[in-house]
Amino acid sequence: MPPQRQQSDYGAGIYRYECASCHTPGRVAPPLGADAITARFAGAAELERYIANAMPYGRPRTLAAGDNWAVTAYILRQDRLLPRSAAELTPATAARVRFPRGAAR
Ligand code: HEC
Repeated sequence: MPPQRQQSDYGAGIYRYECASCHTPGRVAPPLGADAITARFAGAAELERYIANAMPYGRPRTLAAGDNWAVTAYILRQDRLLPRSAAELTPATAARVRFPRGAAR
């Protein structure tokens, strides 16, 4: 299995336990679809920084560093913003994953 796939599969579990309670449509937080993500963030590094500093809402900075990267990879995979060929997301590789310009940029 490619490392990126392994990372985003792992991130799916993090998302289910740490994020879905709020980010499921109809709940308190905005759904994390491609339009919302690309409107607010320029790329994977910026998204991860936001998640690492601000989420989970109410108890930020409680996830391990690797978990923040994994959940970022999962969200981007779901939104089709992470090319299959992309490397595992790390501080070194994330800079290369830029999003197409969103409406708000
Ligand atoms: C307790 C509820 C709650 C949990 C749990 C939570 N979030 Fe959030 N999240 C929010 C709220 C509320 C906002 C809107 C905050 C704001 O815009 O200031 C938000 C905003 C966001 C945004 C920005 C979305 C946008 O369109 O602007 C991202 C990305 C995000 N959360 C990711 C995550 C991730 C990843 C997790 C799990 C690690 C998570 N959240 C867990 C409540 C939550």
